[in-house]
Amino acid sequence: MIVLVTGGAGFIGSHTCIELLNDGYEVIVIDNLSNSNIESIVRVEEITRKKIKFYNFDLSDHNRLEKIFLEHKIDIVVHLAGFKAVGESVLNPLNYYKNNLNGTITLCEVMSEYNVKKLIFSSSATVYSQSKFGKVSECSPLGATNPYGRTKLMIEKILGDIYISDHDWSIATLRYFNPIGAHSSGLIGEDPNGIPNNLVPYISQVASGKLEELKIFGNDYDTLDGTGVRDYIHVVDLAKGHLCAINRVKESKGNEAYNLGTGSGYSVMELIDAFEKVTGKKVPFRIVERRPGDIAICYADVLKANRELGWKAEKGIKEMCYDAWIWQTKNPNGYKTSEVTTV
Ligand code: WQD
Repeated sequence: MIVLVTGGAGFIGSHTCIELLNDGYEVIVIDNLSNSNIESIVRVEEITRKKIKFYNFDLSDHNRLEKIFLEHKIDIVVHLAGFKAVGESVLNPLNYYKNNLNGTITLCEVMSEYNVKKLIFSSSATVYSQSKFGKVSECSPLGATNPYGRTKLMIEKILGDIYISDHDWSIATLRYFNPIGAHSSGLIGEDPNGIPNNLVPYISQVASGKLEELKIFGNDYDTLDGTGVRDYIHVVDLAKGHLCAINRVKESKGNEAYNLGTGSGYSVMELIDAFEKVTGKKVPFRIVERRPGDIAICYADVLKANRELGWKAEKGIKEMCYDAWIWQTKNPNGYKTSEVTTV
């Protein structure tokens, strides 16, 4: 079977392509490389010893997208392509609405034209409105607090309306919590542009000496140690969740959302502690003001994914930190330099 992965050169995409190829799927990737590097595709092929058909263009290019569906008998689409930085979305909301919504609408139009109606959509826990208790299930109230989250929520609604209009569709929306870590080979991983927005890539660069110290955005939250609590999930566990979702859409029609998290929350301080223990490196930090838009606690109720997808995260926080560290030490400049540093 042929799976089209949009955004397949990215952090989640590259790890998902490995699981798909290892499971015997033929993989086609479309990626405009606006926030990823072709080197990740090269390394996925090296790890799996299998080929990927790669196309470098933007999803909003209807004609080029149509050509892909004309030339390949695509069975399932995994839609990961999209801008995903919260802070950036606040500064450039129109870019986010245009890119994330246009790309998805064009994709669904062409899928429908070619009668391809099995779709896995990459959503995010950011679609949930702030729950003071922290734990969220798929039935928890929705309400994004930034343009990035609103694009994810709008796309979920669009997909819902598509299904209502045509019950032939099989749609699984995967709400990611906080993906971290890297493939155990250390050949692929998270490669943020410039200074990392997210916690673990930032910690990795502090531990490696690339950055001086971690700024902890507030320690006055209503949590055990006052720092923010999140549900960190190993990116390989997340990638495997896509395989389980694909099995679901192969077997049944419908439109369902699933939380992909571990069901446990860790604070910033707990993550620093885990990182220092597994790497033997110190992570100097300084407490600063809260980051606008941050919430105290967010972690997943994962019962629905366990029950309906037969999926459960298996890797613990230490393995997440260790794999993130190996990626950092082997690739101090991410994919920017093509050679891997031997450690
Ligand atoms: C985690 C915790 C921060 C950086 C975001 C998006 C979400 C998803 C993952 C795309 C928080 C604290 C962080 C730092 C810090 N992205 N922190 N210093 O904000 O939970 O989620 O990224 O899908 O949609 O919202 O992740 O890693 O930025 O923050 O203290 O330099 O670490 O306050 O408590 P977040 P994060």
